[in-house]
Amino acid sequence: MRSGELAEDRKAAVRTFLDTIESTAKTLNGLDSAVVVTHHDCDGMTSGGIMAQALKRAQIPVDTITLKQLYSEDIDRLKKMEKWLIFTDFGSSYINQLKEAVGEKFVVIDHHQKGNGLHDYHVNPMEFGLDGGVEISAGGISYLVAKAMSHKNMDLAALGVVGACGDMQDSRSSGLQGLNAEILLTDGIEAGVMHVKRDLRLYGRISRPLVQYLLFSTSPILPDLTANKDNCMRFLEGLGIELQHQDGRWRSYEDLNPEEKKVLSTALLMHLHQYNTPEWKLNELVGEVYTLTHEDSHSPLRDAKEFSTVLNACGRNGASSIGFQVCMGDRFEYYQKALGLLQEHRRNLAEGIQLMQTQGLQEYKNYYFFDAESKIKDSIVGIVAGMLYGSGSVKTDKPIVAFSRHEDGSIKVSARATSELVRNGVNLGLALRETCQSLGSTAEGGGHKIAAGCRLEENQKEQFLQEFDTKLGFQTNPSIQS
Ligand code: C5P
Ligand code: C5P
Repeated sequence: MRSGELAEDRKAAVRTFLDTIESTAKTLNGLDSAVVVTHHDCDGMTSGGIMAQALKRAQIPVDTITLKQLYSEDIDRLKKMEKWLIFTDFGSSYINQLKEAVGEKFVVIDHHQKGNGLHDYHVNPMEFGLDGGVEISAGGISYLVAKAMSHKNMDLAALGVVGACGDMQDSRSSGLQGLNAEILLTDGIEAGVMHVKRDLRLYGRISRPLVQYLLFSTSPILPDLTANKDNCMRFLEGLGIELQHQDGRWRSYEDLNPEEKKVLSTALLMHLHQYNTPEWKLNELVGEVYTLTHEDSHSPLRDAKEFSTVLNACGRNGASSIGFQVCMGDRFEYYQKALGLLQEHRRNLAEGIQLMQTQGLQEYKNYYFFDAESKIKDSIVGIVAGMLYGSGSVKTDKPIVAFSRHEDGSIKVSARATSELVRNGVNLGLALRETCQSLGSTAEGGGHKIAAGCRLEENQKEQFLQEFDTKLGFQTNPSIQS
């Protein structure tokens, strides 16, 4: 197909997607009450927070429920509430079960692969041929629904951008793409709540003191600087950059003047060149950064990426109500609690990475495997697996599969790939869903091409590991299937 035809197809896809958004918004505006049911991670909390705020502003009473994951048994519990159910960041794989349980009285706002049925209020870009893994998150879709409910909700575009960053849709140096860029950023800037610029994009530009900014950098790893405090101090002092303000407070990257910023970014580029860093790694250094202009100048909430980590720190550590209140606008009690959780989250991630590195990974034909048992929380094991790539301690030639344990003893599977593996055919969500189907009804899961998960019983472990290996093999080498 020629590029002109592709562009026309895309326009048509966006139009039908927006039509569904419009009709969903109209229905939502007419409700008496609703329950927002959302996923516990950043994109879940931002999408749930956006919908809860939009409903509240429309004077519709709303309850909120956060789940680690939506499973079949949750649907039985939820239907007893006898209110309209608004699912955000999950639900697409349960359309038929939801229809059986509550008829038409539900909305699904999701961006994961493969819906399992038709429903008028199923708002998932994947159903329209748009890539929900790359160009819009649940936060972004919720924002579009909220904006269709009322243009007064345009300020919520900022939360939509945070959701996209939480799902790593900003990871290319060219920044947010497609609907994220077209709609969220345009609206965010127009509403005056966002600012975008190209700059160094190491994590922590606003809230980390300069030494920590370099010391903890994992994307990219800065050879001889990441994890080496003395070298980081020497490097910065060698550039003549003051580490502290006159009153003794530590300076962050955003505290530097334009000249100092230029000196530091040039020095880092030269440093990486000296270590023969490959081009794709160099590209991680500079890119778009997103500022939430209404947040305090030293708050981690001012940077969309840092905001997303604050929310993950809450939701993925069993305190989603705190993250939710931050999404609803609290900047006092809950915000302070969230900052405390952020410290704990960082510690948990560092310990998780250390454990995987010391214990080592097992190598299967088509993936690397690690069983953390109960030593890493089920809710963060996926993030730890993803960060292992950045740490340089595992090759990027195969996906990583990690096991941990749910509270009930069942196995939590988290899988992560790289965008290059996805380009070569890897689709983790599909491989997991198919593997679960072959294991029987107790196994449920799915996700994106690049990041996916599922739940298993202990006695399904060996069969899972074999089946998943075979499925991944088919994806990267389809000729072996026949
Ligand atoms: O359920 P949901 O789609 O929001 O979860 C996405 C999760 O997948 C993110 O929180 C992140 O941990 C992971 N992810 C990733 N790499 C990507 C995209 C997502 O590790 N490129
Ligand atoms: O939990 P984790 O961060 O590893 O999840 C990665 C992706 O897989 C998320 O998008 C999540 O919604 C999805 N997932 C799923 N079913 C599960 C576990 C995770 O669809 N049982």
